[in-house]
Amino acid sequence: MPDRRPLVAPSILAADFAALGAECRAVEAAGADWIHLDVMDGHFVPNLTFGPAACAALRPHIRTVMDVHLMIAPVDPLVDAFAGAGADRITAHLEAGPHPHRTLQAIRATGRRAGLALNPGTPAEAAAELLDLVDLVCVMTVNPGFGGQTFLAAQTAKIARLRALIGDRPVLIEVDGGITPATAAAVVAAGADVLVAGSSVFAGGSPDNSLTYSRNIAVIRAAAEAARSARS
Ligand code: DX5
Ligand code: ZN
Repeated sequence: MPDRRPLVAPSILAADFAALGAECRAVEAAGADWIHLDVMDGHFVPNLTFGPAACAALRPHIRTVMDVHLMIAPVDPLVDAFAGAGADRITAHLEAGPHPHRTLQAIRATGRRAGLALNPGTPAEAAAELLDLVDLVCVMTVNPGFGGQTFLAAQTAKIARLRALIGDRPVLIEVDGGITPATAAAVVAAGADVLVAGSSVFAGGSPDNSLTYSRNIAVIRAAAEAARSARS
C-alpha cells in the first residue's frame, strides 16, 4: 500500500466555466495537489463538458498535475489528442468499450500515466486482469455525468476489496463523487489515496475569494489525514 499522504484533486466541473484558467490557478494556490478535468461526451454519460482543445488551453494554468477523466466512448481515437493537450494522467472507463486492455496500452504508449475508472455497478474484481497496466484505479462513488450527487456509501467496501487486489503494485486508488470531509475519511480509511472533490472545494468561493477554497481543501485534507493515520 503506498505510504503517502492523501491527495486532494479539485474537479473543475464545479468551477466557473467562464473563468477556468483563473479557477485552476486559485485552487492550486489554495493547496490542490492535482487538477481533475472531467471530459464528457453526451454519449457515455448524459452530459457534455469539453474536449482536448480546452484541456490544452488550461495546461499553462496548471502547475501541479493535469488529471484527465475521460467519460467518453469510444476512447481510443482521442487518446493521442488528450496526451497532446498536455494531460499528465489519462483515466478511461472500463465500461467505455469492449477492449479496455487495448485502451490502457494506448494510454501508456503516449508516455502518460494510465488510469482505469469503475462505475458504481462494476465490481472491483472486474479490474483484476488490468492492474498491471495501470497507475491508478478511479472508484466512482456516484454515477458519472454530474457533480453534486450523493455519495454512494456501498462503494466504500469496494475500495477495500480493490486495495486487496492491488496488493503491492504501485497503483493509486482515486475516489470520485460526493467527497466531503465525512466521506473523505471513510474512503481513506478503506484505502483511498486521491480524493476528487468538486462541489465541496468550489462551494462558496471564487478566484477572487480563494480563501474559501483554502478552507474547503484544508478540512477535506484534515479529515483524510486523520483517517490515513488511523489506517494500519
Ligand atoms: C462526475 C465527475 C466528478 C464530479 C465530482 O461524473 O467525474 O469528478 O465532478 O463532483 P462532486 O464532488 O460535486 O461530486
Ligand atoms: Zn471525475
